[in-house]
Amino acid sequence: MWRLRALRPALRGNAVSRGRNRRTDRARFGSEASVTQFILENTEVVSGNSLTPEISLRLFTPNCKFWHERAELWPFADPFWAIYWPGGQALARYLLDEPRVAKDKKVLDLGSGCGASAIAAKLSGSANVLVNDIDPIAAIACELNCELNGLDPFPSETENLIGSEPKGWDLILLGDMFYEEALADSLHIWLQTCIRAQGTQVLIGDPGRGHLEKLRIKRHLHQLAEFELPHAVRKENFGLTSSSVWHYHPEL
Ligand SMILES: C[S@@+](CC[C@H](N)C(=O)[O-])C[C@H]1O[C@@H](n2cnc3c(N)ncnc32)[C@H](O)[C@@H]1O
Repeated sequence: MWRLRALRPALRGNAVSRGRNRRTDRARFGSEASVTQFILENTEVVSGNSLTPEISLRLFTPNCKFWHERAELWPFADPFWAIYWPGGQALARYLLDEPRVAKDKKVLDLGSGCGASAIAAKLSGSANVLVNDIDPIAAIACELNCELNGLDPFPSETENLIGSEPKGWDLILLGDMFYEEALADSLHIWLQTCIRAQGTQVLIGDPGRGHLEKLRIKRHLHQLAEFELPHAVRKENFGLTSSSVWHYHPEL
């Protein structure tokens, strides 16, 4: 049986199953139109069960076929884009509550998944938003979510940008991206480059799975907000009760 719980424990541990090769998945599945159709048929529009009821998203729910189906039958890599992660929820809530943070800014949502943080940034008046996820299906899911929320699709990038030349982002958003030590370390180094080069502001949404505590990056984080998670989100996240927004502010 396909269970999102199969993904969630992975985020508590050191490894996230990458499933299959993401590019090959997309190529094998066919055109963007057929991927779009697949997403439309296998997700449900959800609003109201998250920290940001004003944002609607196409997500995996118990009403979706693959929620109950054997995981091996799922044709893509693990659908992280079909979940609205608690870290992303906190980040999106914070941006909507504090619109000055993203207003007129050039924003990068790295590891964008369903795109909710990017959507919140745009609704708060960002000048432009780039979504980046190494899963190409996430870009299509994000386009559909933009449409649901009355927004034009964002430009998207599926290359791994970590380690690349910073492109003048004023604000980088990272929702639930600290689930893997190697990923966290590479982000730590690259984010410092972005800050040094362009004074980029970096905001992190994380529900404190315990992993962040152990990471080198933790001592450079300053808590900006903490949100109690709604009942439905707690239930799906193994007893997590809150999610926080952190300002990554290393001494350079
Ligand atoms: C736990 S999900 C979080 C999604 C979203 N930010 C949220 O909070 O709902 C992590 C996402 O990061 C993406 N990801 C992992 N490594 C990445 C990388 N190096 N660059 C960009 N995206 C990455 C995954 O494909 C996945 O969609």
